[in-house]
Amino acid sequence: MPAPERSEPELAGPVTAGPVTAGPVTAGPVTAGPVMGPVMAGPATPEAEAAGREVVLEVESLVRHFPVKGGLLRRRRGAVQAVDGVSFALGRGETLGVVGESGCGKSTLARTIVGLDTPTSGSVRYRGTDVHAASGRELRALRRRVQIVLQDPYTSLNPRKTVRELLMQPFEIHRDVLPRDRRLGRIKELVELVGLDPDHLDRHPFQFSGGQRQRIGIARALALEPEVVVCDEPVSALDVSVQAQVVNLLRRLQRELGLSYVFIAHDLSVVRHISDRVAVMYLGKIVELGARSEVYDRPRHPYTRALLEAVPIPEPRGRDERTRTLLAGDPPSPVDPPSGCRFRTRCPKAQDVCAVTEPALRAEPPLQTEPALRAEPPLQTGPALRAEPPPEGEAESAVTSPAATEAACHFPDHRPLARLGA
Ligand SMILES: Nc1ncnc2c1ncn2[C@@H]1O[C@H](COP(=O)(O)OP(=O)(O)OP(=O)(O)O)[C@@H](O)[C@H]1O
Ligand code: SF4
Ligand SMILES: [Mg+2]
Repeated sequence: MPAPERSEPELAGPVTAGPVTAGPVTAGPVTAGPVMGPVMAGPATPEAEAAGREVVLEVESLVRHFPVKGGLLRRRRGAVQAVDGVSFALGRGETLGVVGESGCGKSTLARTIVGLDTPTSGSVRYRGTDVHAASGRELRALRRRVQIVLQDPYTSLNPRKTVRELLMQPFEIHRDVLPRDRRLGRIKELVELVGLDPDHLDRHPFQFSGGQRQRIGIARALALEPEVVVCDEPVSALDVSVQAQVVNLLRRLQRELGLSYVFIAHDLSVVRHISDRVAVMYLGKIVELGARSEVYDRPRHPYTRALLEAVPIPEPRGRDERTRTLLAGDPPSPVDPPSGCRFRTRCPKAQDVCAVTEPALRAEPPLQTEPALRAEPPLQTGPALRAEPPPEGEAESAVTSPAATEAACHFPDHRPLARLGA
């Protein structure tokens, strides 16, 4: 019989809004008020802090394509463009939320960041060191400092091992971190840190509840004292009532240990609660990235807007009578994504020009890399809305006329992509 879940101090109850579904949503009249309300109490992290932080992780133009082979000779027929040119920086003590529909590349991004997958191109740098170019001692140090928490605590923990054995593993791989005679003491500290009973070290994972199992997964990720933790849907497999406890635990650990999180989830309520900034992914690309309040209260991309509008408002707050953007059908195949803007096949505002030009992220205030030591080069923005040449046969005026491009684009200040460190 699993012990009851331990509450974190700021726990305010279960997460109330459910996961975002991407299916068609019905139209209806608008009601005033924010699309999503806060779901859990607790001190909010000021968005203002997101800018000007010391950079711990830089992801630049990251691409991960999986080859698709076919035919008798198993020749390459194409590629699943799981992650296709993702860039962002993560500040010290910051949480960057990543949201998007199933299959948009969130887990591939997570695995590539921590070095479990190899990028096709682009780079991931932890405090300036390329995660994928490192070897030897440098790589071992990196592996310690950048850890991952996986979605499913049922499958991510070996059921044959006890908690003691599961938590001892990281120290057996990284033997130099802690002398053998101090490891048990450290494991007990870790278990207490995540709110479990140190007397239960000899239990197996199946003797714990889902939330407790995820606490074990978190303790294991923290064993080697990481600075960056990539959380890939860490609460999605948990009961709604337990989600808030695990999210609050992650927040407390962040405050106490100075952790930086990349927090991936498809539940927009959870992401809103924990994130300083939010990145919205669609078909392998980040389509919008900004401070939490910007993205949630003033979404700019039609896809972000549709995601937010798809979240149901709980009954006690009144009937849900918003006008909603229709997000019809499934996302296109990542093997053959649409030209130009990848969202154009589902975008209610799409025009011809969207087939040839891709909207880009708004430039963000730069994070600092080692303040006072190395100044971050300013974010670059290119000339305003540079359209790619149109394919043969397409009307040139649709692309080159400023009026046409402005009218075609949903962004009020649509600018070319700001590249970090460019
Ligand atoms: N090893 C692989 N080989 C081939 N294709 C892959 C591989 N891993 C992922 N993919 C494909 O890459 C795309 C992105 O997958 P990924 O698991 O990263 O999405 P996701 O956003 O995490 O989805 P979910 O929300 O369902 O977890 C999908 O089309 C998936 O089928
Ligand atoms: S208006 Fe065009 S560019 Fe903007 S999201 Fe829609 S399809 Fe993409
Ligand atoms: Mg995933």
